[in-house]
Amino acid sequence: MKSIEPARLQADDHLTNKIRDFWVRNVNAERIYGRTVSAHQRGADRYFEELEQQRFRSHRHLMAWIEAMHPGRSVLEVGCGVGLDTFALAAHGLQVTAIDLTEVGVATAKSRFDRSRMSGDFAVADACHLPFEDNRFDYVYSFGVLHHVADTAQSIRQILRVLRPGGEARVMLYHRRSLNEVVHRLTRIPFEEKAELCPVVRRFTRAEARRLFSDYSEVHVHADYLYGEGYGALFRMTPLWLYMPLSRLMGWHLMIRAIK
Ligand SMILES: C[S@@+](CC[C@H](N)C(=O)[O-])C[C@H]1O[C@@H](n2cnc3c(N)ncnc32)[C@H](O)[C@@H]1O
Repeated sequence: MKSIEPARLQADDHLTNKIRDFWVRNVNAERIYGRTVSAHQRGADRYFEELEQQRFRSHRHLMAWIEAMHPGRSVLEVGCGVGLDTFALAAHGLQVTAIDLTEVGVATAKSRFDRSRMSGDFAVADACHLPFEDNRFDYVYSFGVLHHVADTAQSIRQILRVLRPGGEARVMLYHRRSLNEVVHRLTRIPFEEKAELCPVVRRFTRAEARRLFSDYSEVHVHADYLYGEGYGALFRMTPLWLYMPLSRLMGWHLMIRAIK
């Protein structure tokens, strides 16, 4: 039977190298559901515009999640990719530091900040070994990343370390008890629909997510994002009065807010 996830996972450098190579070959948000989102050159203004249009059209819950953060405070984004959310965080008035495992992600995100004269610090780094001192950031933001790293629990401990006391982690992890999990299992479509299997794609129940953040003083978890544009006409035609409560029940995104 066709596999939709790799058979063996081992948290070591070899695995992290495989993860890095995968995301270099499959730069996030550039290809969605088998189509190229923008024909423009990576890093061009129109490239970012078209990637953003697609992202925010599909991820209806995302802007409110970003805008609930207090402007003026510091935020570390873990796994920024080409920096779509990074740019939204900075535009919202946060002082942004962003890391990604890939040079291509960091360079693309940084080039846009430089061209727009926006301030932000960027580095190539691993979520499991954050190169920052303890108690440094007001927020740590990470969307759709920590379920792809070699050791999710270690990355969450690292985030706790770099948050200041009272600081807040805002993390999205994939949800196992979701409609999307059922659909992918039934159709045998891989969880990351790329040209090759993503080395690590974990999914968590609400209880497992709470356990991962059990060293934090407070944890709030809710589900969102029932499905996106990959579901075609179904996504466009599902009325919001139905989409919203079903998202809370069995959405694909576990939205986690955890206070240090
Ligand atoms: C699904 S993409 C999400 C990117 C971005 N947050 C977004 O929502 O568009 C996953 C990203 O996580 C990065 N990543 C994977 N493992 C990582 C790690 N151990 N440390 C830092 N970034 C990592 C990848 O390079 C990739 O850019």
